[in-house]
Amino acid sequence: MKIAFVGKGGSGKTTLSSLFIRHLAATGAPVIAVDADINQHLGPALGLDEADAAALPAMGARIPLIKDYLRGSNPRIASADTMIKTTPPGEGSRILRVREDNPVYDACARPVELDDAAVRLMVTGPFTEADLGVACYHSKTGAVELFLNHLVDGRDEYAVVDMTAGSDSFASGMFTRFDMTFLVAEPTRKGVSVYRQYKEYARDFGVDLRVVGNKVQGQDDIDFLREQVGDDLLVTVGHSDWVRAMEKGRPPRFEFLEDDNRRSLQALQGAVDTSYERRDWDRYTRQMVHFHLKNAQSWGNERTGADLAAQVDPDFVLGERAVATA
Ligand SMILES: Nc1ncnc2c1ncn2[C@@H]1O[C@H](COP(=O)(O)OP(=O)(O)OP(=O)(O)O)[C@@H](O)[C@H]1O
Ligand SMILES: [Mg+2]
Repeated sequence: MKIAFVGKGGSGKTTLSSLFIRHLAATGAPVIAVDADINQHLGPALGLDEADAAALPAMGARIPLIKDYLRGSNPRIASADTMIKTTPPGEGSRILRVREDNPVYDACARPVELDDAAVRLMVTGPFTEADLGVACYHSKTGAVELFLNHLVDGRDEYAVVDMTAGSDSFASGMFTRFDMTFLVAEPTRKGVSVYRQYKEYARDFGVDLRVVGNKVQGQDDIDFLREQVGDDLLVTVGHSDWVRAMEKGRPPRFEFLEDDNRRSLQALQGAVDTSYERRDWDRYTRQMVHFHLKNAQSWGNERTGADLAAQVDPDFVLGERAVATA
């Protein structure tokens, strides 16, 4: 299952991603945690100290390796240089699984121990001022898109992505790559306005979007969110002393998380697990192709000097069948 946490800056994306990751890991499920936010905080939120977090390999710096591996023997992708972040897999491409070892994980993922379980953590890498201009920033989150576009994941295994709700994820189509998108919103007008924008983009693409209210202090906050987002409101989370202790560098064992927050995490998992029934690999592949053609036309063809529409394998559908024939 592919899950995104999005929302306004400071709303609690990283905090709720990390709690959800801990919750899933505690059930014994395999989890890949991905930090795709401009502010790289997921490692520390999972308990890494500063030195360990800084030593994480940056996916953004390993894009040639990622492309070269994923391209495999796909005859439609002549070289890694002509592969852009939206280039879809086709026959001959390499497919990634959650439970496996592969050169992409070797290069980009590191294990993080959480109480009695471990997850794999991948990070795009820190963004510098210069990245936020155009190309490099895109190529950094592009590594995550390549990962998502080649990942065949099943029930009871999870890839959780902490990301922003920025316009780049709309342009590239990254926002359509998830079984479930949790929009973290504080009970404020600004928090809710990000929801509206997201909902607008999501409408035409069948994106499963649920709102997780955060830093909710009472019934008035809950009423406000309910009034603003209606049935899209899945759960609310209040202030957590467990989170505060963790931020002081004294993480209690996860089993000591407050009961109501634990119930909220269970509700998130319930929503994710239910969404499995709605999974549609045909649609997933179609949307990949749709955004690839859009990106090819708007900048990719010019950048690579190739006709990137030719990379699309018309008979290919990502999914278990693609794995069987790979
Ligand atoms: N439920 C909560 N209980 C206690 N503290 C919280 C809670 N949610 C968020 N916080 C605190 O609020 C701050 C911002 O949260 P967080 O870093 O998760 O937000 P973010 O959306 O990831 O921000 P950014 O946009 O900067 O990445 C952090 O200090 C975090 O510990
Ligand atoms: Mg964050």
